[in-house]
Amino acid sequence: MSGPIDPRPAVIAKRLSGVRRVLAVTGWKGGIGKSLVSSTLALLLARRGLQSGLFDLDFSGACDHLILGAGAAFPAEEKGIVPPLVAGVRLMSAAFFSKGRAVPLRGAEASSAMLELLAITQWGELDCLVLDMPPGIGDAGLDVVRWIPRAELLVVTTPSLLARESAKRALELFGRLGVQTAGVVENLRRGEPLPAFEGAELLGALDFDSGLEGALGDPERLLNTDFARSLDVIAGKLL
Ligand SMILES: Nc1ncnc2c1ncn2[C@@H]1O[C@H](COP(=O)(O)OP(=O)(O)OP(=O)(O)O)[C@@H](O)[C@H]1O
Ligand SMILES: [Mg+2]
Repeated sequence: MSGPIDPRPAVIAKRLSGVRRVLAVTGWKGGIGKSLVSSTLALLLARRGLQSGLFDLDFSGACDHLILGAGAAFPAEEKGIVPPLVAGVRLMSAAFFSKGRAVPLRGAEASSAMLELLAITQWGELDCLVLDMPPGIGDAGLDVVRWIPRAELLVVTTPSLLARESAKRALELFGRLGVQTAGVVENLRRGEPLPAFEGAELLGALDFDSGLEGALGDPERLLNTDFARSLDVIAGKLL
């Protein structure tokens, strides 16, 4: 339900009224580090003393709760739902409600689930809400643009031609839709400089970090990786 009698769109702006900035971490290609960048960025912002939130919008492949080691954390009910504080980050994820099982949602159902969670989540006061987007240019991206038009894109790409082309196409599309871009992050750098993206600043690059896998689920350890140190420099440019 999202027709003229659906009350949810009207409440989303109100729910997000205490959120100063919304960063949608995307890249459109799968498996390029969007979730690692989103989760680590939210942690880094919290460590800088900012009120930080993270919303895992990849309903079928939610993994931010695993990266942050959310364990048994669970949202509280209070005129909606209040995201639990995990390592200083307000985290919302469909994983809290799916008990570790896959969430098979078709297009309209995924849109409705996003609308539902956006409408009922009480984020409170946040300096920055990071949205971890699923792969693809389809529903979720277009829904975010529709429901949170002030969201800025933080684009993750890799040196691969295939990732760069996806990023280029999507940047052009979302640019046409009037969406702001905060910048591009190159993950899994290989050495040679990445060609520039039209209308988007290259904020920095992240190397392959063999220490990342062992740091998953352990925020302290994650913050001590080379990956987090490089991302912190990029976070500084974003603020
Ligand atoms: N810089 C890096 N160094 C080492 N491993 C990395 C790096 N970036 C990402 N990875 C690993 O690559 C895998 C994919 O990362 P991640 O899940 O963040 O990608 P994604 O773009 O969110 O994927 P999806 O499209 O499925 O949502 C993970 O196992 C992650 O630990
Ligand atoms: Mg992901």
